Amino acid sequence: MSVPRPERRPRRLRTAPAMRRLVRETRVDPAQLVLPLFVREGADEARAIESMPGVSQHPLAGIGAEVRRAADAGLGGVMLFAIPTTRDATGTQACAVDGILNRAIAASAEAAGDDLVVMADLCLDEFTDHGHCGVLAADGSVDNDATLDIYMRMAVAQADAGAHVLGLSGMMDGQVAAVRGALDGAGHTATSILAYAAKYASAAYGPFRDAVESELEGDRRSYQLDPANRREGALEAEIDEAEGADILMVKPALPYLDVLADVAAASAVPVAAYHVSGEYSQIEAAAQRGWIDRRAAHLEAVTSIARAGGDIILTYAAIELAAWLRDR
Ligand code: PBG
Repeated sequence: MSVPRPERRPRRLRTAPAMRRLVRETRVDPAQLVLPLFVREGADEARAIESMPGVSQHPLAGIGAEVRRAADAGLGGVMLFAIPTTRDATGTQACAVDGILNRAIAASAEAAGDDLVVMADLCLDEFTDHGHCGVLAADGSVDNDATLDIYMRMAVAQADAGAHVLGLSGMMDGQVAAVRGALDGAGHTATSILAYAAKYASAAYGPFRDAVESELEGDRRSYQLDPANRREGALEAEIDEAEGADILMVKPALPYLDVLADVAAASAVPVAAYHVSGEYSQIEAAAQRGWIDRRAAHLEAVTSIARAGGDIILTYAAIELAAWLRDR
């Protein structure tokens, strides 16, 4: 029997490393990676986060060095999260000038100089004793508009501390417009807003909640998106862009590449994606067991996120990725 000769031979472009490199469609640059960092109030040394191998909570005194490490690796930015020693119903420490996150922002901005973009998480979940991203109404629901009022003050405090970009991750309606107005009113017209526009109520945030010692009982399904909804992700992004978001984000990343591609196609502003804690720790856990090639898995993750349209990628592996991307 004669074998039919293929008419087309796409394998030609896969024959050798130099050829594959030449025709590669997606290249990831360390400058588009952002490293999330955790600062713990009262800590005097770095503490490993058990569910996130390789990631630690840092003391305030150590954050400058972490920011320098990120800058020296050529990363684009850092995203700061903080764990305060005291929490209350309204997240008072979020707006306090000497609150741990605001102090961490100031220390990071100083360490970064002009080398790196300093981003801060703007949300109440690390600061409330109930662990929700906003304040609660009398019936126990998360009160959207009362929360906006606090976000506005938190935004000004973060901008005063020197944050370049505010990461609005609380999923309250109208948060981008409220924060933009508050920043402009305080003269912070140059402070940018990265809106977690399409943030899904995901199982992949589990390790992060360990990292910030979250007090949450229950879930965030009354404000974060249902994982089943694709169109709603695009709608959230459209609303946030119209409200003045400078950058839009989709989160988590790999399970939501369809949403990311939709948002990237429809938006005029840069689009970020967050390869979240659970996505990171799945790779780490499998790699520890020898079930997956850690480096290849992280490289494939960021490459796939960029291919789907992510201009900016938040990943806990950012520093190592920068080195791997350079010697690839
Ligand atoms: C909320 C916030 C969360 C994450 C980033 N910002 C947690 C949540 O919504 O419960 C998760 C990030 C990750 O899992 O890596 N401030």
